[in-house]
Amino acid sequence: MLEAILYVFPAYVANATPVVTVRLLGKSTPLDMGLRAWDGRRILGDGKTVEGLLSGVVAGSSIGLLIYYFVNLFRSVSEPFILALGAMVGDIFGSFIKRRIGLERGRSLPLLDQLGFLLFSLIFSSLIYGLPRWMKLDVFLILLIITFILHISTNYVAYILGLKNRPY
Ligand code: CTP
Ligand code: MG
Repeated sequence: MLEAILYVFPAYVANATPVVTVRLLGKSTPLDMGLRAWDGRRILGDGKTVEGLLSGVVAGSSIGLLIYYFVNLFRSVSEPFILALGAMVGDIFGSFIKRRIGLERGRSLPLLDQLGFLLFSLIFSSLIYGLPRWMKLDVFLILLIITFILHISTNYVAYILGLKNRPY
């Protein structure tokens, strides 16, 4: 179980970094450049930015690199990068889905909000490197539950710290 958490740590870090980056920078560039989709709504919305994406990938990969050098866990030095990238793509994909079903930026879509990034991250890494060796149904399900709880609690902390406008 510990191995599973350490493995997805780059995805966690990638997912948590953008909110800090955007607050530190004070300004940001929407990934969708403000464009709208066929339904008249924003493609992604102002919550997905270039700065957020880049900082998430860099931070997630960096933490992963650190793990790579201390623990024999990743199969390639680029696996943490793939995990971080997958997490960011999953998060962006989630916003795309939310906009298409009419949810404004910042509104919650339970399960997709908390687990989408992790699933994409694991799909990305598994397609490239194969399933990680810790992958078993019971470990996977517990990882989903831990991630769900961790996501909700870290977002609540970010809200308390004034990093986010909403507690989820
Ligand atoms: N963020 C960013 N770029 C990203 C992902 C996140 O700048 N690629 C920042 C945004 O400031 C965003 C915050 O991190 O508001 C929290 O992320 P999230 O909860 O995913 O975004 P929401 O604002 O809730 O927007 P959405 O409804 O699209 O998920
Ligand atoms: Mg949100």
